[in-house]
Amino acid sequence: MTEQPAHPANVRRGVGIVADGTFHMPTRVQFGRGIFDTLADEVNAFQAKHVMIVSDPGVISLGFVDRAVNQLQAAGIETLVFSQVQPNPRDIHCVAGADLARENNIDLIVGLGGGSPVDTAKCIAVLLTNGGHPRDWENFGTLQHPPIPVIAIPTTAGTGSEVSPSAIITDTVRKKKMNLFDPRICPAVALVDPDLTFSVPPKVTAATGMDALSHAIDSLHCRLDTPASDGMALEGARLVAMYLERAVADGNDVEARCGMMQASLVSGIAVGITDVSGCHSIAEAIGATYDTPHGITCAVGLPMIMDYNFEISKAKYVRLAHAFGLPTNGEDAAVAQSAITYVRELNERLEIPRLTELIDPADLDLLAAKALANTSTASNPRAADAADFRGIFEKELAIPFGELVGR
Ligand SMILES: [Fe+2]
Repeated sequence: MTEQPAHPANVRRGVGIVADGTFHMPTRVQFGRGIFDTLADEVNAFQAKHVMIVSDPGVISLGFVDRAVNQLQAAGIETLVFSQVQPNPRDIHCVAGADLARENNIDLIVGLGGGSPVDTAKCIAVLLTNGGHPRDWENFGTLQHPPIPVIAIPTTAGTGSEVSPSAIITDTVRKKKMNLFDPRICPAVALVDPDLTFSVPPKVTAATGMDALSHAIDSLHCRLDTPASDGMALEGARLVAMYLERAVADGNDVEARCGMMQASLVSGIAVGITDVSGCHSIAEAIGATYDTPHGITCAVGLPMIMDYNFEISKAKYVRLAHAFGLPTNGEDAAVAQSAITYVRELNERLEIPRLTELIDPADLDLLAAKALANTSTASNPRAADAADFRGIFEKELAIPFGELVGR
């Protein structure tokens, strides 16, 4: 077995403003209402002749896949649709999609949908040039060849997958979420069209929006934080606080939908510079075990990991309270705590289920082991072993909500 490259959080020199850092954001983002209709021009710019659209049945039912196919075929571009994507996207579908793409000489992939189709599109692009199984390309910087180009078109506001260097794919044998992370996995182009999110129902808007917030906060307290990523993360958090509840209350609120699309984008860029961290270790452990929607697990995991990181990340949470627009004239500890309380109360207003509704307490050791094994656990600012993760789950289950928010 070849030696795995070191986790960047474990080889970084220095802390804070003097720390080493690197980032590369190769995705060209085209943001705007109606930008979806420029897809054929974008494909032509790559001189691609055989395109595969990766999507799912829900996106097909909204008519977006037909719109894309019609555009491409009208431009004389041969187009194939692969729609076997499920939420928490599976390795088996990436392998099947790659086989189909290979048989059809596909030279460009369009990922059209929420995070699952976009991540699947990115993974298929990896398999086409690197071969093998997604498991072979797990973790940081393991690719042997650059993937074929991907154009990402998000239809939800939250995952940020359209600008991220990751594809998160479930290993159906190990029941584990894998992170394929390499700057070359970033889509070449992201067409970010807020109009595509207008029909997203309130519950999905809420959950995906909390995924965006989890990217902002997981980046903010990440061991790989930089001034550039903090700027993106704090702006992402500010936009979520300003627009998420509005977008949930009225799906046709144009300003709120644009605000959430921008929140998803900047928070996605932030975690592309850094990495997700402890919230996603918890969230992906729950998601891989019970197939719970990713945004729900992130919403629940956020205050849990913020409580755990509190002492080490206090100064970051003070800045977060500023971004949320909370009163900030008290002691740092109280202001930082108010940011955590804000997240818990936002979850409550958005009717996000509590942890007790998501997991079986008999599985705590399994969940702790999965959280510990997550690639991004090394990026959490406070080290955690399996007992620590078990303790984080136990605390959340044991303490009544009123006590957690200081009521
Ligand atoms: Fe996420």
